[in-house]
Amino acid sequence: MSLPRHLAIIMDGNGRWAQQRALPRILGHRQGVEVVRDIVEECSRLGIGWLTLYAFSHENWGRPEDEVGALMDLLATYLGKELESMLRHGIRLHVIGDIARMPSSVRAMLLETVERTRDQQGMVLTLALSYGSRDELVRAVRSLAGAIAAGELNPADIDEQALASRLDTAGLPDPDLLIRTSGEMRISNFLLWQLAYTELYFTETLWPDFKPAHLHEALQVYAQRERRFGLTGEQLREGPKERGDCH
Ligand code: FPP
Repeated sequence: MSLPRHLAIIMDGNGRWAQQRALPRILGHRQGVEVVRDIVEECSRLGIGWLTLYAFSHENWGRPEDEVGALMDLLATYLGKELESMLRHGIRLHVIGDIARMPSSVRAMLLETVERTRDQQGMVLTLALSYGSRDELVRAVRSLAGAIAAGELNPADIDEQALASRLDTAGLPDPDLLIRTSGEMRISNFLLWQLAYTELYFTETLWPDFKPAHLHEALQVYAQRERRFGLTGEQLREGPKERGDCH
């Protein structure tokens, strides 16, 4: 079965999971962290190279203060508990987003975990935190403009690579598959540039109910998709030699 090299997930539905049980929203997030643990381990076990999780969006800062605080606490607890497991499974932690906005204690834990796992050779786990794709693109454009102003770059030399190398995801392959849970059919400002040719998979299952079996189902659907990258099915079947260069 063909596995995605890079899997990205929008983990949605924690709040509704809690509401359905008349529980506070934060208990939905707490259950969501348990699922993060299981899915990270399963992806690593399956041999997926890159897993990117949308854990806290740029827009999530607008949520009630107590929910934001509780999410930051959950993240800190997760990092504290999971370092040992990451080291055991060869997982390398990476972070994308405007992490300067994260509370300094959480930021310090993130940087320390990134540092402690940097030489690991297994799956790269990327957490998108304080992440918004438009914000990321604006920061990349600002960096390009800075390079031009400094005389280091000629506007005529700006190409896709020049922009991509200034995104937070520089060095990561584009996602092959995006999963969004909870029935919402939106991208919600996640990896807008990087998802150009990504296969999309939406499921009604709420994130706290998402089990490895649901992941396997998504991976099976992905394996049956024909990815054409703008070409015809026939061209793809002929193979790369006959069709020349494409991306
Ligand atoms: C969406 O559910 C989920 C989030 C905003 C946060 C996701 C966070 C976690 C799963 C836990 C922390 C992550 C890590 C990596 C430790 P929602 O609250 O928008 O659900 P709703 O749409 O049903 O209200």
